[in-house]
Amino acid sequence: MMALAMIGLVLVLCAPRRAWSDEQGSDLVDMTLVRGASAQGAVCLDGSLPAYHLDRGHGSGLGNWLLQFEGGGWCNDIDSCLERSMTRRGSTRYMNKQEVFSGILSNNVSLNPDFYNWNRVKIRYCDGASFAGDSVFSNQTTKLYFRGQRIWRAIVLDLLPKGLDQAEKALLSGCSAGGLATFFHCDNLSAFLPKTATVKCLSDAGFFLDV
Ligand SMILES: *[C@@H]1O[C@H](CO)[C@@H](O)[C@H](O)[C@H]1NC(C)=O
Ligand SMILES: *[C@@H]1O[C@H](CO)[C@@H](O)[C@H](O)[C@H]1NC(C)=O
Ligand SMILES: *[C@@H]1O[C@H](CO)[C@@H](O)[C@H](O)[C@H]1NC(C)=O
Repeated sequence: MMALAMIGLVLVLCAPRRAWSDEQGSDLVDMTLVRGASAQGAVCLDGSLPAYHLDRGHGSGLGNWLLQFEGGGWCNDIDSCLERSMTRRGSTRYMNKQEVFSGILSNNVSLNPDFYNWNRVKIRYCDGASFAGDSVFSNQTTKLYFRGQRIWRAIVLDLLPKGLDQAEKALLSGCSAGGLATFFHCDNLSAFLPKTATVKCLSDAGFFLDV
C-alpha cells in the first residue's frame, strides 16, 4: 500500500506543468514515429510504432543531447497491460502528437539556462515496464508486446544519424518509471556514443525500494 501511495505521489510530481508552459506560448514539439522500428520488433504494448519528440539544439548547445524518458507507472499483469494497451500509456495511437517541452526540456534560457539550447528529446513511454522487457504474450484473442529494450535501441539508432553519433555531451534523464529506465540504460547509452563524449545520467525519483 505504502509503495503504491508513493508511486501515486511521484506521478503527480513528475507531471509536466502545462499551465505554466502554455502561458509562454511556444514550446510545442511534434512527435516523430520511428518508422523502421517494427522490423526490429520494437513496438508498443499494442503493436503500434514507438515515438519521440526532438527539439533541435543550436549555438553552443549544438553538439549536446538531453534524452528524457517519459514516466507513467507500470502495468502488473496481462489484464492490466491489456487495459493499458488501449490508452496513451500503452500505444502511440492514443498519444498527443505534440508535446509541451517544459522544465528541463524548455527552450527558454531564463527557465532552463543549462539545457535550453541542447538537442532535447522526449522518449515516449508505451511498453508498460520502464523500457526493460523483451517478450510477447499471445493467446487466441490477445497479443501484447513487452518490447521496451528494443524500443530504447530503435530510438537511439534513429537518433544517431541525426547527430547523436557526434555528441560531445549527453545527459540521460527521466522521472518515476522513466527514472528507473534511466538506471537501466545509462551504461548502454555510453556504449553507442563516441569514446570522447561526456555521458551523465539523472534518475529523478526513479529508485523503488519496495517494488
Ligand atoms: C521565458 O521565461 C520568462 C520567465 O518566465 C518569460 O518572462 C519570457 O517571456 C519567456 N520567454 C519566451 C521567449 O517565452
Ligand atoms: C487471452 O488473454 C486475455 C487476457 O488475459 C483473456 O482475457 C482472454 O480470456 C484470453 N483468451 C483465451 C482464449 O484464453
Ligand atoms: C544496448 O541495449 C540494447 C537493447 O537492450 C542491446 O541490444 C545492445 O546490445 C546493448 N549494447 C551494449 C553495448 O550493451
